[in-house]
Amino acid sequence: MNGIQYTLREWVDVPAGTDWLAAGELTRLSQFRFPKRRRDWLLGRWTAKQALLHIEGLPAAGLTRLEIASSASGAPKPYLDSEPLATGLSLSHSHGRALCVVSREVLELGCDLELVEPRRPSFVDTFFTDAERQRVEAADAAFRDRLVTMIWSAKESTLKALGTGLKADTRSIEVTPAGEPDPGGWYSADVTARDAGHFRCLWRMDGQFVLSVSATISAMSRTCTSPSSLATRTASSIMIMQKEQPTAMVSAPVSLA
Ligand SMILES: CC(C)(COP(=O)(O)OP(=O)(O)OC[C@H]1O[C@@H](n2cnc3c(N)ncnc32)[C@H](O)[C@@H]1OP(=O)(O)O)[C@@H](O)C(=O)NCCC(=O)NCCS
Repeated sequence: MNGIQYTLREWVDVPAGTDWLAAGELTRLSQFRFPKRRRDWLLGRWTAKQALLHIEGLPAAGLTRLEIASSASGAPKPYLDSEPLATGLSLSHSHGRALCVVSREVLELGCDLELVEPRRPSFVDTFFTDAERQRVEAADAAFRDRLVTMIWSAKESTLKALGTGLKADTRSIEVTPAGEPDPGGWYSADVTARDAGHFRCLWRMDGQFVLSVSATISAMSRTCTSPSSLATRTASSIMIMQKEQPTAMVSAPVSLA
C-alpha cells in the first residue's frame, strides 16, 4: 500500500467503553482531568487506530495490540505489540471530529483539521508572515476566512511534521498557496520552513472544515526516482478512507503543479 492515507472520524463513532485501549493508553486516560481533553484524546486514538488497522492489515480484534503513545514533545508514536511501528502518523481533533494521516513511506508528516471561522485581524498580524498577511488582505472578502484558516492549518501541519508544534515561531513557516484545486478538490501549497527546508501541503474542504496534510518534499522523494515520478506517484497515491465505508479506498488524483 503506497502513499499517504487519511481517515476522518467523529465523536459519535467512538465506542462508549475502553476495552479497545492498550494498557499504556488506559494509564494515560486516567490522568486527564478535563472532560474535553479526555474526549479529544479518545477520539484521536480511535481515529488513529482505525487508520493503523487498515494500513497494517490487522483485524478489528487487533485494536488493543496497537498503542498510540506520545513522545516528550507530544507527537504521537504508534506501537504494535509494544514494538515501535515504522509508520508515519499524525493526528488532529477539532469540534468533535478527528483526522489521522498514516504512511509507510513518508515518516515525517503532519496533519491538521480546522473549522473555518472568522478570526480577528490581530491573529493574522501576530502569526502570519508579511507575505501571508498581504495575500489575505488582497483576497476576496468572501474567501478570506477560508484562506486564513487554510494558511494556519498548513502551518500547524508543517510544525507537526517537524515535530515542534507551536513551540516554534509560526512566522518561521511561510505558506504559498498554488492555484486552483484539482477535480478531487485538493489544493496544494508550497511551504518554506526557515532552517528546515521545503514542504508540500495538500488541503481540501470537508464541509466547514479545512483538512491539511504536510510532508517534506525530501521525505516523499525517498520513494521516487525523479521529480516527475514524485508528482505521478504522489498524485496516484493519496487515498481517501471514506467514513461510511471504512475498508473502501478511493484514489483521489492530486495536482502538485
Ligand atoms: C501540537 C499543536 C500544534 C497541536 O495543535 P492543536 O490545534 O492544539 O491540536 P490538534 O488537535 O490539531 O493536534 C493535537 C495533536 O497533535 C499531536 N502533537 C502534539 N504535539 C506534537 C508535536 N510536537 N509534533 C507533532 N504532533 C504533535 C498530538 O497527536 C496531539 O493530539 P493528542 O495529544 O491527543 O495525541 C499544539 O498543541 C502545540 O504545539 N502545542 C505546544 C507543544 C506542547 O505544549 N506540547 C505539550 C507537550 S506534552
